[in-house]
Parts: sequence; C-alpha cells; structure tokens
Amino acid sequence: MSEATATVTMARERWTEADVPGQEGRVAVVTGANSGIGFEAAAVLAERGATVVLACRNPDRAREAVARIEARGARGTVRAIQLDLASLASVRAAADELRSSFERLDLLVNNAGLMMPPHGRTADGFELQLGRTISATSRSPAWCWTGCSPRPGRGS
Ligand SMILES: NC(=O)c1ccc[n+]([C@@H]2O[C@H](COP(=O)([O-])OP(=O)(O)OC[C@H]3O[C@@H](n4cnc5c(N)ncnc54)[C@H](OP(=O)(O)O)[C@@H]3O)[C@@H](O)[C@H]2O)c1
Repeated sequence: MSEATATVTMARERWTEADVPGQEGRVAVVTGANSGIGFEAAAVLAERGATVVLACRNPDRAREAVARIEARGARGTVRAIQLDLASLASVRAAADELRSSFERLDLLVNNAGLMMPPHGRTADGFELQLGRTISATSRSPAWCWTGCSPRPGRGS
C-alpha cells in the first residue's frame, strides 16, 4: 500500500461525532458537562436523541449549558443535577437523585476533572485529584452504594 493510499484509508476511518448512532430511549449522565469535552459529548448525545443529565458542581453553569445544548437542537431531554466529585456526600445525593428519576442508566461518561490542580483536599479529607478520581469511578463505594454502578447485562 502506498503512503498516499494509507493516509486516505486512515482519514476515512477517523471516528467523528457523525459516527455516533441514534441514542433514542437511552439515558446518559455526563459529569463536568458544562464545558469542554463533557459539554460536547452531552450535546452530541442529546442531538442523537438521548435523555442527557448534566452532572455539574456549579448549578448556574449547568443551567447555562442546558440552554446552550437545547439551542443547538437537542432531540432528547436535557436536564442538570448538582454533583461535586470532591464530596462523597454530593456523589451520594446525585446518585440518589438519579435513582429516583430514572429506572436505568445506559451511559455514564466520567469526564469531570482537572489536570494537575493545585494541592487541596476533598470535603472528606482526601488529596483532591485522587479523591475526585475515586469518587468518579462508576465502581466507587458511593456509586455502588446507591446502585448507579453498572449492572450485569446493562450498559454502564
Ligand atoms: N483537554 C485535554 O487535552 C485533556 C487531556 C487529558 C485529559 N483530559 C481530561 O478530560 C476531562 C475534560 O477535560 P476538558 O479539557 O474538557 O476540561 P474542562 O473544560 O476544564 O472541563 C472540566 C469539567 O470538569 C468539572 N469539574 C472539575 N472538578 C469537578 C468536581 N470536583 N466536581 C464536578 N465537576 C468538576 C468542571 O466544572 P467547573 O466548570 O465547575 O470547573 C468542568 O465542567 C478532564 O477530566 C481532563 O482532566 C483532558
């Protein structure tokens, strides 16, 4: 295969948002969805018809993000819940709210985070980046305790 042919083949195989299939009937939760990668992921899922929950620590930024996604032509329902991954109590409260609102979750996009934040501690006393990462994993005690972890035979 010539170099030119290989380049064309790779370009054709590049995965883009256009490759995201229809998401009708699915429920997706995206953490840190008020900006950056999380916002774009939430917007595309909503455009494809998913019910999308923006799990964000700042309610004002979350509301503004919901409005921006709706303005982009979301076909699915978009809503926000409050979630601060630097607090296990907040993770539990968010998981409880999800459980009471939905019978199931199909997608959990654990996007929220900051690269190398200044030294700090979570509300529970853990080093900030480590504590937030542990809170974010779908198998963390907080998510499992409330039943939002993946279940056999279902999406995660
Ligand atoms: N962009 C890159 O090149 C890159 C490379 C490697 C990894 N990543 C990772 O990819 C993810 C998204 O990156 P991005 O560039 O899109 O970042 P971003 O625009 O800064 O977005 C980060 C999001 O995470 C949220 N967040 C931070 N701490 C949180 C907490 N304690 N609880 C809940 N939400 C919290 C932020 O909320 P606020 O708006 O309230 O701050 C924001 O919505 C991050 O985890 C980042 O570390 C990014």
